[in-house]
Amino acid sequence: MDRHDHVFLDKLNHASIVDGARLAYGTVQRYAHNDMAALERQLERVPADAGKFIVTDGLFSMEGDLADLPGIVELARKYDAKIMCDDAHAFGVLGPTGAGTAEHYGLEQETDLVMTTFSKSLASLGGVVAGPESVIHYLKHHARSLIFSASMPPSAVATVLGALDIIEREPERREQLWHNTRRMQKGLKELGYDIGGSESPIIPVVIGELEPMLIFWKELFDAGIFTNPVTPPAVPDHSCRLRISMMATHTDDHVDAVLDAFAQVGRAMAVI
Ligand SMILES: Cc1ncc(COP(=O)(O)O)c(C=O)c1O
Repeated sequence: MDRHDHVFLDKLNHASIVDGARLAYGTVQRYAHNDMAALERQLERVPADAGKFIVTDGLFSMEGDLADLPGIVELARKYDAKIMCDDAHAFGVLGPTGAGTAEHYGLEQETDLVMTTFSKSLASLGGVVAGPESVIHYLKHHARSLIFSASMPPSAVATVLGALDIIEREPERREQLWHNTRRMQKGLKELGYDIGGSESPIIPVVIGELEPMLIFWKELFDAGIFTNPVTPPAVPDHSCRLRISMMATHTDDHVDAVLDAFAQVGRAMAVI
């Protein structure tokens, strides 16, 4: 981004987007999570001829909810802005072929740049930005973080290619992932847990304060269940949570065992 350009970020975007924006020269503004009215207020205050770039997570990493991409596309059209979607958690997961958030909404042509990491569904390291050839060419010659760091090792690239083949050839894995996700979400809700607005295999179980969340985490860990303990600054104060990441290789028995443990620990700790 140039000095006269403007960048608009969802407040709950991943830290790497915030850091990326810090490296850019443009003016950065953050809008309340998925709040299209707030984004529009920011867009309309920017001069019509300035470059405008809206960057959002596709699937939010600590909430498990989706970006309002249709709303963002509508505003981008109205204010002549470009869109980048970070699909770290959506690639391989959302959309009929697993191509991510834009495919899920049928908005692939309207989403200017899609970025994903190779560290989630693709089981490797590194990442990719996909978009029009001229933009990718520009990035290759201007993105300092790309130019001045080492390329991916062939072994990591081969892993990505292998994972892509599996995503393409074995859609049943994605179906199993969604089956597991639906069972887990339903079970947790029936037990009385707050899973926020999750609509994906990322399921936050909001506990609230730090200490009970850590005790809960340890109880689950001792019962053989791994969750991610999520604390500020990754989430707001008093909103500490356990993050469950569902996998295609989980079975119904796994899901039942996790729900049993959540029932036992939650009742013992008077969380539910
Ligand atoms: C939304 C999002 N973007 C980017 C990243 C960065 O991925 P990595 O540094 O693992 O390649 C992550 C990782 O947690 C993420 O959740």
